[in-house]
Amino acid sequence: MRDPSLRRSWALFRAFLREQDDPEHCYRLLARDAADQVERHLPLNGAVVADVGGGCGHFTEEFRRRGAHGYLFEPDPAELTARGRRPEGAVIADGYLLPLADGAADVCFSSNVLEHVADPQTFLSELIRVTRPGGLVYVAFTNWFSPWGGHETAPWHYLGAERARNRYRRRTGRAAKHTLGVNLFAVHVGRTLRQVRARDDIALVSARSRYAPFLAEAIPRLPGIREVATWNLLLILRRLP
Ligand SMILES: C[S@@+](CC[C@H](N)C(=O)[O-])C[C@H]1O[C@@H](n2cnc3c(N)ncnc32)[C@H](O)[C@@H]1O
Repeated sequence: MRDPSLRRSWALFRAFLREQDDPEHCYRLLARDAADQVERHLPLNGAVVADVGGGCGHFTEEFRRRGAHGYLFEPDPAELTARGRRPEGAVIADGYLLPLADGAADVCFSSNVLEHVADPQTFLSELIRVTRPGGLVYVAFTNWFSPWGGHETAPWHYLGAERARNRYRRRTGRAAKHTLGVNLFAVHVGRTLRQVRARDDIALVSARSRYAPFLAEAIPRLPGIREVATWNLLLILRRLP
C-alpha cells in the first residue's frame, strides 16, 4: 500500500483497534508495512537483517519471507514465546550489547523498542555499530507526548504518568504493564532528531510520522506540534563508512 495514503493508515488503524482480539492480523500487517518501508531503500532479498527487541518474531518472519537472513534478538523470554513457541533461531540478547561483530548487518531494525530503554542514545549507538557502512538502521518509536505515549494508560498520561496508572488500575482492576522510568521512558521527537543529526557516523535518510496518512515527513519538522502529531517517529538512517 502506498505510504503515505489514507487507505494504508486506515487499514493500520483498524488493525490496531483489534490488536487485543486479533494480534496476528495486526502484527502481520504492521510487519508487511515495515518491510515495504525498508525495501524502499534497500532490497531485503539476501540481506542480513537484525531485528532488535523483536518480541515474538512477526517482523523477522516477514523479512525471511522476503528472502532476508533474519536474526531476532530479544532479551525477554516471555515476549519471545508470547505466541506459544520460541521463534526459530531467536537469540536472547540485550540491544545494548548485541552478540554481533561491527558491521555484521545490512539492516538493523528496531520497532517500538526505543521508548522501552532507559538510555536510547546508547541503544542507538549499538544498532549503528552492528550495521555495515552503506547499510540501514530502521528505528521507530512512540514518543512520550504522542496520544499513545502512555501506551495502555493513554491518553491519561497527559495528566501525569502516575495518575494515568492509578486510573488504569481503578478501571481494569489490574496493574498497567508499563511504568514510566521502569519499562517505559519519555523519549521526544525533537531531542531524538537533534541527537541523530549531531552524529557523524550516520546520514538521516528519512524522518517521518510512521502512520500518518499525509504530511508524514512535514510533521516531524514542526517544533512543538511534532511532539503530539507525530504519534510514532520512524527514522531511517544510513551508516556512513
Ligand atoms: C512493544 S515491544 C515491541 C516488539 C516488536 N518489536 C514490535 O514492534 O511488535 C518492546 C520490546 O522491546 C524489548 N526490549 C526492552 N528492552 C530492550 C533492550 N534493552 N534490548 C532489546 N530489546 C528490548 C521488549 O522485551 C519488547 O519485546
